[in-house]
Amino acid sequence: MATKNAAADAAAAMSRRAKGKKPMKEFKKYIVYGIGIFVTIAAVYLAATDGQGGGKKKSRDSYRSKATAQVNDRYFVSDVTSYSAGNFTAAASPFFKGWSYADVSYGLDGVAVRGEGMIGFAGALQRCQDEAEGLESGAVPPAYDLRVQKPGCEAGEVYDQQNCSSSYAIAAATALSSRFCFSDPEAYAGTRLSPQQIVSCDKKSQGCNGGGIDAVWSYIKRRGLFPESCVPFAGAAAAKCESSCDPAKKLQVIDHCLLGGEKKIKREIFNRGPVVAPVLLKDDFLVYKSGVYTPTDNANQQYGANGEPIIHAVTIMGWGRSEGTPYWLVKNSWGKEWGEDGYARMTIGTGVLREESVIVGYAATPEALEEQQKKKEAEEKRREELKKERAERDARIREREAQRAAEAAEKASQEEEDLDFEDEEEVDTDSQEQQEGDDP
Ligand SMILES: *[C@@H]1O[C@H](CO)[C@@H](O)[C@H](O)[C@H]1NC(C)=O
Ligand SMILES: *[C@@H]1O[C@H](CO)[C@@H](O)[C@H](O)[C@H]1NC(C)=O
Repeated sequence: MATKNAAADAAAAMSRRAKGKKPMKEFKKYIVYGIGIFVTIAAVYLAATDGQGGGKKKSRDSYRSKATAQVNDRYFVSDVTSYSAGNFTAAASPFFKGWSYADVSYGLDGVAVRGEGMIGFAGALQRCQDEAEGLESGAVPPAYDLRVQKPGCEAGEVYDQQNCSSSYAIAAATALSSRFCFSDPEAYAGTRLSPQQIVSCDKKSQGCNGGGIDAVWSYIKRRGLFPESCVPFAGAAAAKCESSCDPAKKLQVIDHCLLGGEKKIKREIFNRGPVVAPVLLKDDFLVYKSGVYTPTDNANQQYGANGEPIIHAVTIMGWGRSEGTPYWLVKNSWGKEWGEDGYARMTIGTGVLREESVIVGYAATPEALEEQQKKKEAEEKRREELKKERAERDARIREREAQRAAEAAEKASQEEEDLDFEDEEEVDTDSQEQQEGDDP
């Protein structure tokens, strides 16, 4: 019986296994329960993190640019690369290592185009003149890279400005150095003038707390700049305004002015060398690594202590086109590991690099000084000529007035005669009318 029962049990078990439906059904049921619970938990989680369906992006974005967030945050870096959709790649750089956005507001603050509100007023920032030799005329090449066209004229390695808002000084010194070399690549080979001198000595700038991208040229005009080796860059470490170098080593500036417009900027660079450009600082630019920078849709403008947008100064060293996108080639001052060996390519016309407010500083090269002298003489001559012309014109006017007076006198005497004649006629008519009226 026991065997029979065992056999029956076995048969029953076999038949259950053969059908196999009930245990499978139960298993599926658990999977469905499991998914249900998971979905519920996920929904609660997304709601709690303010997900709006796309939870991941939103939760990462929510701490972007927060004072305590790190510039080099790896989620931010990878998000920027994906948001830029192939235009450029992002990466953490040694320059921003340990920097929070509060450090950005402090360490890059205070740079501006100070004279922008008073362009053209006497003693204020002037617009560059369109000279005959060509801001307006002539073609420029489709691509230009000063490092290639004038080797050795890029004013040395990219600076690391450190925790010192000195881009205004670095960009000006870089542009000026490069312009001297541009004018005579042999005589001025490897010229690298000192931005530290500006940071330490220019009382109208604020040292490591920023300065005027335009105003700084007035200091250079007054004092000239020593080579870098005479006043080496010290960054955040305070450096005294002193040098044991011979002042004869200093290089000067003739003048500076404001230039606007893509074509004019290109012509100016092509004719005389680099210019300085203000850049509106956005968070995604801080982690730019390679490619052509176009601000991503959700890029955040950075603001300084006074609530003004942070402006950063760079030197435009050329331009080009990549896969149809026209760009400026700029030299930055965040070390050579940032961007493309310290340089960046920035899309033209995005409004980030302010093409309408570029600053040109004219290097006081022997040719430029000679030209300036000639221009002065020409102006003097022109003034003399104008004076002579005016005197001649005045004489002509006086002559004509005298003639006119004589003519008027003659005419007056003639009119008197005419009047006499008219009088007679009128008298005639009157007498006629009188005669008619007198008729009965
Ligand atoms: C990529 O760059 C081009 C050219 O500036 C621009 O039109 C486009 O919007 C950019 N794409 C993104 C995702 O930013
Ligand atoms: C820069 O200097 C300021 C003032 O000393 C300091 O508060 C800030 O933490 C510094 N930033 C960095 C990144 O070291």
